[in-house]
Amino acid sequence: AGLLPFEHEPYHAFSDPAVEGRQRAAFRMVREQYLGRTFPMILNGERVETAETTDVRNPADTREVVWRFPKATPEHLETAIQGAKAAFEDWKDSDPLQRVSIFKRAAELLRARRLEFNAVMTLENGKNWAEADGEVAESVDHFEVFARETLRWSQGKAVYPMPDEHVTTVYEPLGVVVCISPWNFPSAIPLGMALGAIAAGNTVVWKPAPETPLSSFLLVELLFEAGLPRNVIQFITGTNDVLGDPLVDHRDVRMVAFTGSRAVGCRIYERAARVQPGQRWLKRVVAEMGGKDPTVVCADADLDAAAHGIVQSAFGYSGQKCSACSRVIVEDAVYDAVLNKVVALTRELKGGLPEENAALGPVIHERSAERIMEYVERGRGTARLVLGGDRPDTGGRTGGFLNPTIFADVEPGDPLFQEEIFGPVLAFSRAQSWEHAIDLANDSQYGLTAAFYSRDPHKLAEARKRIHVGNLYLNRKCTGALSGTHAFGGYGMSGTNAKVGGPDYLFWFLQTKTVAQKY
Ligand code: NAD
Ligand code: ALA
Repeated sequence: AGLLPFEHEPYHAFSDPAVEGRQRAAFRMVREQYLGRTFPMILNGERVETAETTDVRNPADTREVVWRFPKATPEHLETAIQGAKAAFEDWKDSDPLQRVSIFKRAAELLRARRLEFNAVMTLENGKNWAEADGEVAESVDHFEVFARETLRWSQGKAVYPMPDEHVTTVYEPLGVVVCISPWNFPSAIPLGMALGAIAAGNTVVWKPAPETPLSSFLLVELLFEAGLPRNVIQFITGTNDVLGDPLVDHRDVRMVAFTGSRAVGCRIYERAARVQPGQRWLKRVVAEMGGKDPTVVCADADLDAAAHGIVQSAFGYSGQKCSACSRVIVEDAVYDAVLNKVVALTRELKGGLPEENAALGPVIHERSAERIMEYVERGRGTARLVLGGDRPDTGGRTGGFLNPTIFADVEPGDPLFQEEIFGPVLAFSRAQSWEHAIDLANDSQYGLTAAFYSRDPHKLAEARKRIHVGNLYLNRKCTGALSGTHAFGGYGMSGTNAKVGGPDYLFWFLQTKTVAQKY
């Protein structure tokens, strides 16, 4: 729509010693410039500090406090919402081309600072270089994609005409949109929700996850540098007691865009349904939640390709992705062969420090590691442990390090098969036939991603129809959706299926006005 064709941002080739050197330099620069600093919130364009702050810790060694962020009070929350409400009066009428220019400029600014953003993310959430780089590249893609979507949605849509009336259908923004995000994608996820809101002419209260605020803060500042009026985003940090329910319940909030766990998403969905005194609308909610994502391997599949896809999608970022493969369902005839290949490849993964680009780093917290180990201990009694099941020696470092774990012969009723564990734990189950494998894949309350491996066009066509998920990948891994191409969002209890990065995403942040005028 009036812009150049879109190309996805390429990834860095860290195997090139020159690129590796630049990433190491970026870590040194981030440590020198940011370590130990206390950052502010940004309310009405002003930097706001508080006496009480939250420590952000390096997940690879939780003794290290990397930086601190303010703990907002209820008064700050009110300031943020009223600031966003006042800013809406101007921003709703802003020229879509102005929004496009800001997003295009922000893309350029981020391209120039990708390695710095990678380093910040690694120190906050323990992603290794490639995982952080993929996410920052996705953030550049978001700027480019939302620039194009802004123009597309600003144009309205044609309706069937009447002979004596001029009729238009146009899209108008909603108001104040609260964006609440998880720690596992601290850049691309809040940015996708916030850009959806802003591109459509709304204003935003941006509340990052407490574990990962700097990845968000730097993006907000970058948007301001690109020309976004400084009150269009209100950036607020703090604890869930102040910024959870009270933010969702506030009567001046028009919409909540949430990505995170099923428990919190369901809570937000319920609370937002209650009409508060003085509230003049039904709140809209986008809630994108967890997954229990299967990979199906048919007997006729390329087993090596399947094994590689499974290992990458199950153990990349230690399995801490909503899209991660956590169930492998294999036809009986090749079950042992696939299991053996996956175990062999997983044994090759080296654990270590994300800052040193180790394949397998820690999970986000010690309490997360303990929760995952409870699943593992219970699994020992219900399934066959074939790899891992324990924690590595970290040489005194305090972090949630876990060995990659594989269980075989997992029954469909087992929590290992049904519940989102969100760690490096993979469950293998045997299917009598490929049709049975599809039934098992669908035996879940979730429906986010799935992968299906076969060489048979008939089976691929059946999988396309019958596997009940929002993102289905045939003969490739189930992680790594690209903005603009793989619109992302699930079925069932994985959420509202808003499909970030897709052609219909902006519709969630708009309302439709029909105007009919007699000639
Ligand atoms: P979480 O639900 O614990 O937290 C998400 C956000 O909600 C955080 O910012 C948190 O501070 C906030 N929050 C907590 N209580 C709240 C309340 N009562 N009201 C409003 N906000 C509240 O999730 P998490 O641990 O940060 O992230 C992991 C989860 O996110 C996993 O379940 C994962 O599958 C899911 N996730 C889903 C997607 C997707 O696109 N479907 C993407 C990434 C992660
Ligand atoms: N969008 C992320 C992926 O596809 C979660 O892996």
